[in-house]
Amino acid sequence: MSEQRSQREVEGPEGFFNELYAELALDSVGRAVDRAAKFLVDVLGVRRGQCVLDQGSGTGAIALAVARQGVEVVGVDIVERYVDRANRRAQQAQLPARFFRGDASDFCAGRLFDGAYSWFTSLGYGAEVDRDLATIACAAQQLRPGAGFVLDYLNALRILKTDRRQSTINFQRASGEVVRVEQRATYLLERGVLKTDWIYHRQSGEVRRCSVKVRLYLPHELTQLTRSAGLIPVSFFGSQDGEALTEGSRRCILVARKSR
Ligand SMILES: C[S@@+](CC[C@H](N)C(=O)[O-])C[C@H]1O[C@@H](n2cnc3c(N)ncnc32)[C@H](O)[C@@H]1O
Repeated sequence: MSEQRSQREVEGPEGFFNELYAELALDSVGRAVDRAAKFLVDVLGVRRGQCVLDQGSGTGAIALAVARQGVEVVGVDIVERYVDRANRRAQQAQLPARFFRGDASDFCAGRLFDGAYSWFTSLGYGAEVDRDLATIACAAQQLRPGAGFVLDYLNALRILKTDRRQSTINFQRASGEVVRVEQRATYLLERGVLKTDWIYHRQSGEVRRCSVKVRLYLPHELTQLTRSAGLIPVSFFGSQDGEALTEGSRRCILVARKSR
């Protein structure tokens, strides 16, 4: 079948966060989920038996690694299939993690948490900054006094300095199929938004174009956002290994706390 005969185009987070994305970016074996979980448990200062909220939990990769450390996790994600997969994996591994389909900006678990996090750019996809503010405020309202919040985000400083905005990778699915993925990033200057286009070329000839827009925040803007949401910003890191944040850091990780 020629590639042109079967083309699909999807836009927005619900379309971008699909099965192929999950296999490539969330559940890939090379992903250092245990290091991320250890970092989260350390900086949140949570202990075995305590419970944390995971906003934008995806297929549960990070939440399950946190749960393997004995910390209970409640996750929320907007993509139903990811939530189902996360619940299945938690049940199979008998881990203390439960996942709900919902919007993290208004998801209320009906309990207080000992910590919360948003990992690997799990907010910033809505049209309005207010939704990001509501997401962090929603976590803040569900935290016990003194509990921590971690926001792991893109490092806008690094992205703005990078000239290379196109790449192509091949990845092998669990089924053995090799998928070629063209990745393009465009910075929409007037909106402060990064547009990401991923074009998947399947072995069947199907071509699937997916795009998503995510807001870029400079570190001081994340500080302001977190403070406006009712939390006290404490520190920044540039990686899950605890490195300091620099212009070249891959990630921008803000740690904040609820007042006592
Ligand atoms: C890049 S993935 C990261 C997933 C997960 N945190 C991880 O590290 O494996 C971003 C996730 O955020 C979710 N998401 C985006 N906006 C959301 C919202 N408003 N409420 C809940 N989930 C959201 C997406 O569905 C996706 O699963």
